[in-house]
Amino acid sequence: MIAERASQPLAVFDSGLGGLTVAAEIRRRLPSENLLFLADRARVPYASQSVALIARWAAECFDFLLAHDPKAVVIACNTVSSVYLTELAEQTPVPVIGVIMPTAHAAVEATRSGRIGVVATKATVKRRAYDMAFAELRPDVHVVSSAAPLLVPLVEEGWTAGEIPRKVVEHYLEPIVSSQVDTLVLGCTHYEYFVPIMQDLLGAQVRVINTPLATSLELERVLAHDSELNRDRRRGTVTVYSTDVNEALERVVKDLFAEDLSEGRITVQSAQIPPFRIAPRRV
Ligand code: DGL
Repeated sequence: MIAERASQPLAVFDSGLGGLTVAAEIRRRLPSENLLFLADRARVPYASQSVALIARWAAECFDFLLAHDPKAVVIACNTVSSVYLTELAEQTPVPVIGVIMPTAHAAVEATRSGRIGVVATKATVKRRAYDMAFAELRPDVHVVSSAAPLLVPLVEEGWTAGEIPRKVVEHYLEPIVSSQVDTLVLGCTHYEYFVPIMQDLLGAQVRVINTPLATSLELERVLAHDSELNRDRRRGTVTVYSTDVNEALERVVKDLFAEDLSEGRITVQSAQIPPFRIAPRRV
């Protein structure tokens, strides 16, 4: 029975291309697992929508993923994690892992001064998702937050390097740079693509927390605890679903999953999201 569950896929979800960085790290750490990824690119960015609409879209995407009978679901989206994680987890029969708690844990372990910067979407900043996580883990942490709404569209456009993205990142990081934090949390998985620019702007003395790594380690811990790690020696498959497939998606897949692509173990497919069934409860 356990062996059967172990070969079930792991599902990873984001509104767009950001979550692929988390899926790629899971792939590196747990290569035997069969991986499903869903990006709701037809509707990205989520963060500029109302909480009720974000919750509805996330629930629709969950329906799609749960139809594949995964053994766990990773919400590789801070915005959905901050708006709707508890409710989704309550309604889902398998473990649901968000990105906020694993990232916040890694940040409190990394900081020496207790001053942590958080750059995130407007929705995540407004929900004070990281402030609450830090309050739970280490109440004396001083948090400096900055919302960076233009970074998600830049990633979806495939524009993550050069003068313009650097200027945009610099603008959003300014309140954090001037607050002398020693640790930076990327409170949006899309921002992973800007790590080289951010690290350059902040200097080597500021530690940028690796959300894909922190989340993958938490996933591994949960699977090991439930004896659901796939012990098969062969590499598993990767299926990337998107509600809109275009060249930008294919380019990122090529960059992040080069080996799987050359060995024919990855497929990119268009996803039809079924009509909404689960009514959001409290949000
Ligand atoms: N990657 C999502 C996050 O981590 C982007 C949110 C959006 O679609 O606005 O928050």
